[in-house]
Amino acid sequence: MIVQIVSEGGSYSQLKMLVPSITTFWTPLPLVKAMYALEPKLCLAKRSFVAPSFNDVRAILGGAQLNYLADNGLDMVSFDGDVTLYEDGQPLLPDNPVISRLIQLLSRGIYVIILTAAGYPSRTGQEYTDRFSGLLQAIEDSDLKDGQKRKLHVLGGESNYLFAYDPLHGLQWVDADSWMLPVMKTWPHDEILEILDTAEETLRSCIQGLNIDAKIVRKERSVGFVPSLGQKLRREQLEEAVLETQATLQIRNFTVPFTAFNGGNDIWCDIGDKKLGVLCLQHFFNISHPSRCLHVGDQFLSAGNNDYKARAAATTVWVSSPHETIEFLDYYFSFLKK
Ligand code: IMP
Ligand code: MG
Repeated sequence: MIVQIVSEGGSYSQLKMLVPSITTFWTPLPLVKAMYALEPKLCLAKRSFVAPSFNDVRAILGGAQLNYLADNGLDMVSFDGDVTLYEDGQPLLPDNPVISRLIQLLSRGIYVIILTAAGYPSRTGQEYTDRFSGLLQAIEDSDLKDGQKRKLHVLGGESNYLFAYDPLHGLQWVDADSWMLPVMKTWPHDEILEILDTAEETLRSCIQGLNIDAKIVRKERSVGFVPSLGQKLRREQLEEAVLETQATLQIRNFTVPFTAFNGGNDIWCDIGDKKLGVLCLQHFFNISHPSRCLHVGDQFLSAGNNDYKARAAATTVWVSSPHETIEFLDYYFSFLKK
């Protein structure tokens, strides 16, 4: 049985009436098929005392999404970095088991994108090369064809800096003129500065007012605060700071989109967002429809989470750890074989 929850035109369903904030589902979702397939892991039918949980529902929705994509085709998968491909703040090391799965996707001619909030404006891409060295080395050593290798890209700073993999030279800067959406090229520089100045001022006042042991980091297209060495910030402080930043920016009615989010142990306000990131890539790669793209990430809890916005441009799978990313990818591959 395939359940069409909300049609692409946004027409009303019972679910839409019960949950008005629900957005477009880009594909039908074979939920029952997914439930049966995931039964060995979830043991829903065998449980007598524990009702289906939020995590069970998340797993079934993710599984159903992957089921549909395995049957109907997939052109691009974008992966968030921290907590999705590797543990928070860690690099993508050679022994990370996700690497062989990413190579498997590339071997099937699928675009593989690391779509991360981490923004480094340097055209050398050295920060990304260092961080993803395990993956880059594995691709270099693999027997993938050059055309398949070239399908790896990194989009950093939500939607700000694009790098393409070149088999001879590694990650190469791609000029914004060729891939950014036309509207993004018209964003007024003054407004970008104003957003970052306003966010910086708010973050400074949060640091002071909430006794947060952190320092401000300002970049070309983002501003944030990071904890002083060895400090673990409290969730409540982080949430308060991010909500305060969002509220302060929202009343200014800026036309340039921004993402203010809680990164787990830091707060950032970036110019742009992951929805735009996915849209730029669809446009650049000439992908016909959001139903042929998947974004995998860990930050979907609310509009204050940075993967959330990708829902508006692609199908999504919400993971809670790098281990779950692997489980979901293996699930996708297992469906392809049938
Ligand atoms: P993601 O999970 O791959 O999107 O990465 C988010 C993390 O990247 C944040 O929690 C930060 O720790 C880190 N980061 C480093 N630089 C930036 C930046 O300029 N903007 C947002 N996040 C950044
Ligand atoms: Mg993340």
